[in-house]
Amino acid sequence: MPLPGVRRAVMVGSGKGGVGKTTVAVNLALALSRLGRRVGLFDADLYGPNVPVMLGVRRKVSSSGMVPIRRGNRPPYIRPLRRFGIDVMSMGFLVGDSDAVGPDPRFVNRLVLQTLRDVIWDVDVLVIDSPPGTGEPQTTLVREVQLDGAVVVTTPGELALMDAGRSVAAFQRDGLPVLGVIENMAYIRCPGCGETIHMHETGAGRAADDLTGEVLARIPMTPAAARTIGTQHGLLEPANESETDRQFVAAASALLARLEGEPRP
Ligand SMILES: Nc1ncnc2c1ncn2[C@@H]1O[C@H](COP(=O)(O)OP(=O)(O)OP(=O)(O)O)[C@@H](O)[C@H]1O
Ligand SMILES: [Mg+2]
Repeated sequence: MPLPGVRRAVMVGSGKGGVGKTTVAVNLALALSRLGRRVGLFDADLYGPNVPVMLGVRRKVSSSGMVPIRRGNRPPYIRPLRRFGIDVMSMGFLVGDSDAVGPDPRFVNRLVLQTLRDVIWDVDVLVIDSPPGTGEPQTTLVREVQLDGAVVVTTPGELALMDAGRSVAAFQRDGLPVLGVIENMAYIRCPGCGETIHMHETGAGRAADDLTGEVLARIPMTPAAARTIGTQHGLLEPANESETDRQFVAAASALLARLEGEPRP
């Protein structure tokens, strides 16, 4: 089923946890917006919804007994939150920062799918951040919603590459084209001498070669990328562009070229 109000939808995934999916999804969304597209960001991670915090949105009060979203009497119901020019909806908006969410795993996919469908989107590109692994809710979203492709995030390490390979296989099994790979925390640039340090023997290049070929970007490991997005963050400061920002903008334009270059199936 197509998502009303969404022209193109991309899922950011990886087999392994902690490789930077959320960091990439958030920065990719901001970079797409900088390239002039209307952008939506949907955080499909119910157990660890990190998008709100990364965008500086906190919900300290527990939502028990109070749902912060007013529903209309017919879909779509939810107006997304506007942050830094992008429309954001996160499963995390429904719960407090430290609330432990424990719905029956059998219902997670339905809950996430329904929330995604309930949002009033009006965007050129929707970026979906997903939890680690190849299970739910990714499988349900891929099967039930019209998506245009996946972006797989990996670090250059052997284990992350293996798990990213599983992720690629799962997307391909479900008929979702993998539009590219983002190699995150690919290297460190010494702030003193400028030398490039590769942390894994596999080094830059292996990720793409092992997975699908096209690397959209290689993002360095930097304090800037690790920070919560805020007024000090580089991507919001065009005059003060960092290497990381340039990589994200390059990734966004490569992604757009792939997305918009081909007619929708
Ligand atoms: N390029 C980078 N440079 C420095 N730190 C980074 C970079 N990318 C991600 N991080 C940091 O690594 C940690 C994990 O990143 P993130 O939460 O984006 O990963 P994830 O794949 O979404 O994790 P999960 O599997 O739990 O959803 C975070 O603390 C983040 O700030
Ligand atoms: Mg995450």
